[in-house]
Amino acid sequence: MNHSLSAVLRRSFSKPYPTAVRGAGAVVWDEAGRQYLDFSSSAAVNFIGHGEREVVEAMAAQGRELEFVHSSQFVTPVAEEFARELLDFAGAGFRGGAVFFTSGGSEAVESALKLARQYQVEIGQKQRFQVVSRRQSYHGATLGALAVSGNIRRREIYLPMVREFDKVATPYCYRCDYGCRECASRYAAELERVLAANPHAAAFIFEPVSGATLGAAVPPDGYLREVAEICARYGVLLIADEVMTGMGRTGRNFAVDHWGVVPDIMVAAKGLTSGYAPLGAVLAAPRVVQALARGSASFVHGFTYNAHPVCTAAGRAVLKIIQDRKLVAAASCNGAAERALREALEGLRAHPSVGDVRGLGLLRGIEFVSDRQSKAPFPHDRNFSGRVAQKAAERGLSVYPMQGSVDGYSGDHLLIAPPAIISPEQVRWAGEQLHAAIEEAARG
Ligand SMILES: Cc1ncc(COP(=O)(O)O)c(C=O)c1O
Repeated sequence: MNHSLSAVLRRSFSKPYPTAVRGAGAVVWDEAGRQYLDFSSSAAVNFIGHGEREVVEAMAAQGRELEFVHSSQFVTPVAEEFARELLDFAGAGFRGGAVFFTSGGSEAVESALKLARQYQVEIGQKQRFQVVSRRQSYHGATLGALAVSGNIRRREIYLPMVREFDKVATPYCYRCDYGCRECASRYAAELERVLAANPHAAAFIFEPVSGATLGAAVPPDGYLREVAEICARYGVLLIADEVMTGMGRTGRNFAVDHWGVVPDIMVAAKGLTSGYAPLGAVLAAPRVVQALARGSASFVHGFTYNAHPVCTAAGRAVLKIIQDRKLVAAASCNGAAERALREALEGLRAHPSVGDVRGLGLLRGIEFVSDRQSKAPFPHDRNFSGRVAQKAAERGLSVYPMQGSVDGYSGDHLLIAPPAIISPEQVRWAGEQLHAAIEEAARG
């Protein structure tokens, strides 16, 4: 089909997209019968694998009973139960808290920003309304989420429409601003300087492991703990955006668990339903909920599709699979999937175009360079990561290419984030195909 004639407004008018018709396990098929190994779970979405009947049946059963009610008029058993299970999954810091369900990550981030603002108003800190965030970050496509995002290309043309607040640097070990000398404290000190000078700061939002923008850049040990202490000292709420890293993706229930940090607000989506239904969640710690409950006794915010029964039924069924099949352990450093992935990607380091391989659990990044010694990136218009992804797709391997890790424009990387049910054989095969795809992109 001529894609310019499509009735769907696509992301690209020039890219030829295959038509996906079926999925099972870690594989997706197109209408021509070609199969693609889903090595990035589309965009780090699918964690349990495609085609799980239990999830689809749970959604159908809920739909048959009750498809929808509005959250201003009713609550539902399925949302209440899923919220309790999710708080339990989030650990002791969230017990006694509450969950606000949305239809995806951006809506959940918007909701978290507004919840942080309302919290400050409720406790008498009306002057606090700004949300400090980090450069080279991504928190969503809606205007509030885009305002706190640092991803230059995704926000560039919308800048006149968004409100700008303070931003600090994101730790990036491969290109560390501080030459890796006491960098955890020095990155954290940037935040302290900003908060000390800004009486209007209500919250600080961050991705515990940088997702798409920097390609799975893991912070140095100690950084997040210092950040949490600084926020607490300045009366600023800590919002962990776990849209990409949550629900087991990094080998812990939530990525902040790696460093023993308990945020005030946590945002989840993507792996929350593994893509079976559109759902996001804002998890609020008890003190945040209590401030609203004891104050105005309402949350001045809402969407029509809050806590949609069919979507929360999908979330419950997905969480049950994650727990019954021990998929968080599979993604952890003792898990078969993680070990195979680490080995396969480490094997790519030998390629002269591969500058860095990084990440945690089943969230990994490969950064490409034109010169390993100087770490010089490829020219932006060569679109090196896009070409690797195209070559990989021709070989039946699906990966997530990004650009901009160096300065927002140049710097090519791939995000690798397979579902936790991927087999070691599939991972090894993917590693070979990726090596060949990098080779072809480097030649061409
Ligand atoms: C860290 C992070 N936050 C928020 C979002 C926005 O989520 P959604 O695309 O579901 O709106 C994304 C999406 O990639 C993300 O990676």
